Amino acid sequence: MKNLIVVLMGGLSGERKISFLTGKACSNALKKKGYKVKELDAKGYFVNELRKLKPRIVFNALHGKYGEDGFVQSILESLKIPYTHSGVFSSGLAMDKELSRSIFEKNKIKVPKYFILQKAYENNLKQKIKNKKIKFPIVIKPINEGSSLGVYICKNEIQFYKNYKKLQKEYDRILVEEYIPGKEIQAAVMGKKALGAIELIPRRKFYDYKAKYSSSAKTKHIMPAPLSTKKYKEVMLLAKKAHNLLGCRGVTRSDFRFFKNKFYLLEINTQPGMTKLSLVPEIANYSGIKFEDLIVWMVKDASSNR
Ligand SMILES: Nc1ncnc2c1ncn2[C@@H]1O[C@H](COP(=O)(O)OP(=O)(O)OP(=O)(O)O)[C@@H](O)[C@H]1O
Ligand SMILES: [Mg+2]
Repeated sequence: MKNLIVVLMGGLSGERKISFLTGKACSNALKKKGYKVKELDAKGYFVNELRKLKPRIVFNALHGKYGEDGFVQSILESLKIPYTHSGVFSSGLAMDKELSRSIFEKNKIKVPKYFILQKAYENNLKQKIKNKKIKFPIVIKPINEGSSLGVYICKNEIQFYKNYKKLQKEYDRILVEEYIPGKEIQAAVMGKKALGAIELIPRRKFYDYKAKYSSSAKTKHIMPAPLSTKKYKEVMLLAKKAHNLLGCRGVTRSDFRFFKNKFYLLEINTQPGMTKLSLVPEIANYSGIKFEDLIVWMVKDASSNR
């Protein structure tokens, strides 16, 4: 169909449920703006369906593995269907917290002290922690998940080994890093422009899955983030720098911790949540961009060869 937009959602990752929320919100926004839209679950033989539908553009509303890491993007490249958000390599880099961090560090963006544990090479764990001078609490997480899935803040060795064993069953590479106290600040970039930064104050132990998606968890959102003008500008510049360093496109969201006047970049998300309660729409809205207009901008920004 000549003018059809397919919104890809769902998929195979642990963030499947959240992706449906993102996808439905984006699909509704596009319908409201008069676009012809079809929602498609990126599961099973969805590629056959895409071939049949021949959409003008794919709106990628997937999160996590296969949707945010370059896999779906490479399928869309080979089908020559223009798509939203970042391209194959940028998506892959951003999703891999080890690879993206090495780029951030080389370019003087501060990240927490960290090292990687890989199943086959995990001896000398205690020595590694000592070498890196990482003190408890220690954070462990998979290198390529989202929505805080598999993120554990461990107060001591017992908690560390217990949670590490859990992660080891499912993941090959695990990130071990220092816990950065302080504030949770996230900044959005749209195209070539940093849009703004928000502070999140969870009531739970940290900004985990529930704190992110359940309104009953009552996470406080403060927009704009209450920082000095200088620091607000700095975090916007850092988000833009991270976005550009990885060659990201469309919209991204960078997650920081702010402690002792310094920003530590935790990661950049190339497919940030786009439900009406998500952070990028909230930041955009504050800078005068309505949700529907943000989604339309993303569609207009779509291309192949990204
Ligand atoms: N080193 C750290 N110090 C303090 N808090 C941390 C650290 N690492 C993670 N966290 C907490 O866990 C949350 C999730 O971490 P992170 O952003 O790395 O995971 P994610 O699953 O990729 O998240 P997303 O939903 O943004 O994709 C952070 O927003 C923060 O609240
Ligand atoms: Mg995050």
